[in-house]
This record gives sequence, C-alpha cells and structure tokens, in this order.
Amino acid sequence: MPDFARMKAAGQPITMLTAYDFPFARIFDNCGVDALLVGDSLAMAVRGEDSTLAVTIDEVIYHTRAVARARRRALVIADMPFLSYQISAEEALRNAGRLVKEGGAEAVKLEGGIAIAETIRRIAAVDIPVMGHIGLTPQSIHRMGGYRVQGRKPGCRQRLLDDAAAIEAAGAFAIVVEGVPPSLAREISARVEIPTIGIGAGPHCDGQVLVMHDMLGLGEACAPRFAKPFAHLWNDAAAAATAYVREVKEHAFPAPEHCYSENRRS
Ligand code: KIV
Repeated sequence: MPDFARMKAAGQPITMLTAYDFPFARIFDNCGVDALLVGDSLAMAVRGEDSTLAVTIDEVIYHTRAVARARRRALVIADMPFLSYQISAEEALRNAGRLVKEGGAEAVKLEGGIAIAETIRRIAAVDIPVMGHIGLTPQSIHRMGGYRVQGRKPGCRQRLLDDAAAIEAAGAFAIVVEGVPPSLAREISARVEIPTIGIGAGPHCDGQVLVMHDMLGLGEACAPRFAKPFAHLWNDAAAAATAYVREVKEHAFPAPEHCYSENRRS
C-alpha cells in the first residue's frame, strides 16, 4: 500500500485490473499489474447480471480467496458489496474484517463520498486500508437512472470535489474515480494527495483500472467507450470451441498423441 503513495509522488502510473479467479490473477500478477481488484462487477462480468446489486459478502470472499492465493506481489483489494457497509459502521467494520480474515484481502474498496466518510474512518482506524470510489458508482444505479457520466454540472462537480476531500480526510489510501469528464478527474487528482485510479475518467488520474473482461475482449455485449480491448478473447474462445466441436464430430480428436498407451511408461 505505501508503494501507491510513492508512485503518485514519483509520477509513476498505477495499474489495476479486476480479477475473480486464480489463473487470471496469476497472469496479471506475473505481468506487473500493481493491484488486483476483486470487484463486485463479478455480478455482471462473471454471472451475466445487469447490475452489481445482488452480490453478497460471502461471494466476494469466495472470489477473493482464489485471487489472494494467486498473488505474489500485487495488492489484493476486495470490493464491499451493496449493503455490506451502508447499514452501520459496526457492520461495515465486521464485513471489512471478513474480507481480510476469510478472503485474504489486503485492502477493501467501498463506494460513496461524504456520506460514507465516517465508515471509512472506522475501518481505516483498525488498519484495514480503504480505497474510496466516487463519480459513477454502480451501486447507485437506480438513483443515477443508469450508468451515466457524473460531474458535468457545476453543482455535481463541486460535490465530487468535496467527496474526494472527505474520503482523503477520513483516511483512505486511494480513490477510484469513475465516469467523470477528464478535466474533473484532473482537478480531483491535483487536489488530493492520495492516488486517484481512473476508469472512464481520462488520462489525468494517477492510475487506471479496467474490468478484466473489457480489457481482454471477453464480453458478448459491446464494451463501454472507455474500455479498450487489448485482446479479443471472446472470439478466440469461440474459434477454439468451434474447432473442438468440429474435430470431435469428425473423429479427428482425440488423436493417438492424446491417448495413453498400453505400456505404463508412456
Ligand atoms: O467492481 C468493479 O469492478 C469496480 C471497478 C470498475 C473499479 O468497482
């Protein structure tokens, strides 16, 4: 976690990707990704739901355990799902503790600004590092009326600046800034000393995060504008499955080299 602060001070961009299982977490860790986020986006990316709201703390713990097992050097951050931290600071603290004790997370992330600052303070006070998340906060989809860019109107812009300041003052070590115009992300990043990690927020944040399925081109639907696919794994997986089906139907697979011989040595 202290590396994040050093990287901001040195002007070194921080890289974060979501991960939900062992193999991808190990690949990303090996490739030098700085932080692995077990996001509640697993509802949409892994389970095909249309929002993040249904995810439970037990489900995040389950996925965090797999990611934490794969981790060698990256920071593992677990998302606090909807209603795991909003009811009371006590409940938030208990759930943050479960993500660390049972899931193996090293930090937790939660959405919201001023309204959630006291909760951040309580969790950070027991030395669980907390990452904030402001702007387009997917758990507020019904209030926002959809996945809409935030901070375009002056009042909303000021509210997000105040939210960022409140999160920093409460003791968060970093803030995800999602779905805001680049000029606002730049202003937030300049005003807070802790690193900002952007998603759909332009190039001026101190780091970037993407949902792994978007980064790998592993979604069936069109990814959002900001989500550059660095690969096309959906198509690659479809081509592989098509070839497998064809080879089995044509008796081309399994070939002799895929079969055990009668001799125990080979
Ligand atoms: O759940 C998630 O994947 C996230 C990222 C989009 C930041 O919160």
